[in-house]
Amino acid sequence: MPTLFDPLELGALELPNRIAMAPLTRARSNRDAVPNELMAAYYAQRASAGLIISEATGISREGLGWPNAPGLWNDQQVDGWKLVTDAVHRSGGRIVAQLWHMGRLVHPDLGERQPVSSSATTAPDYAHTYEGKKPYTAARAASFADIQRITADYATAARNAIVAGFDGVQIHGANGYLVDQFLRNGANFRTDQYGCSIDNRLRFMTEVLEAVGGAIGMERVGIRFSPNIYSQGVEDSDPITLFTAVAHRLERLRVPWIELREAHQPTSAGAIPTEPVSPFMRPIYSGKILLNSDYDGPSARERMALGIADGISFGRPFISNPDLVQRIALGAPLSPGDVGTFYSGGAAGYVDYPNLDEAEAA
Ligand SMILES: Cc1cc2nc3c(=O)[nH]c(=O)nc-3n(C[C@H](O)[C@H](O)[C@H](O)COP(=O)(O)O)c2cc1C
Repeated sequence: MPTLFDPLELGALELPNRIAMAPLTRARSNRDAVPNELMAAYYAQRASAGLIISEATGISREGLGWPNAPGLWNDQQVDGWKLVTDAVHRSGGRIVAQLWHMGRLVHPDLGERQPVSSSATTAPDYAHTYEGKKPYTAARAASFADIQRITADYATAARNAIVAGFDGVQIHGANGYLVDQFLRNGANFRTDQYGCSIDNRLRFMTEVLEAVGGAIGMERVGIRFSPNIYSQGVEDSDPITLFTAVAHRLERLRVPWIELREAHQPTSAGAIPTEPVSPFMRPIYSGKILLNSDYDGPSARERMALGIADGISFGRPFISNPDLVQRIALGAPLSPGDVGTFYSGGAAGYVDYPNLDEAEAA
């Protein structure tokens, strides 16, 4: 059985270890969604990860509803990301861009138009805007022309990611955003070829993957799901059947890797009491599976020994432990993060978490 410290091939990517940094929105870009030197420093500090998955990155203005999150739809954003990818590569790391369309979770203050979703619905709770939290507004059901436009935007953003120096992309299919709004039947009420049956609900994801794979080569594409988490009003009545079908589809499309944010403890954020889907996907899907959520070093080692995961991705532990790989190798304690600076702020709580040797010297 491979360990966390064995190399791993994810399509075209060669990882020196199996400890990935999960995507983490940190909201340090400017209002034009352009990344900067501070972000380059943050990511470079974490370059010992086998793979860095970038924070969710908007594919278009209409698809990005998070203040100060980055984008990948114009040249300024590409130039900003070059600072990041250069810094990560100079530090010996690998980084893929997580491509994001938030669907009904884009407030018009940011998306500049009425949001689209699989169906005409309104998300529960509140949107983040530059003027604070506001109730979500009603989305309209995406027309066929919308779907074609959005799919093309994914392909353009993927090409931009490669121009910006990323080693590949991950499609954000998790956490209640647009791909998830099509996949799970708690948000998709369509009666056309994009809704109702599971086969139809997989169509949007399939078209996005085909467009992105066609643009940059499927060997540089991965996708993330959150199958047993209730996310921003999105859930499914039968996750095991749905994600078994997803596994068959990804196998057919030859998508080389997936990341599952799969709650495995009742205390995991958003966990709903359903069985994990990974044991059902594993026998069908021959690509690599990264598992995420609530792991530390010992529990990640235990999970690897069960033989389902090819690697483990860590979110919050990477925020406050830039040298997480070394800490896990040494069995060293992990530093806690400051939740108050997770989603906003400047350098504080972002690039000032010490490595083990710096912490010991202090
Ligand atoms: C500050 C913060 C930002 C996050 N941003 C993203 C994101 O941009 N994309 C995404 O797919 N998940 C995002 N997540 C979810 C994490 O990737 C991860 O699934 C979650 O933190 C659970 O893993 P952990 O227990 O290792 O932290 C975010 C989580 C946190 C705490």
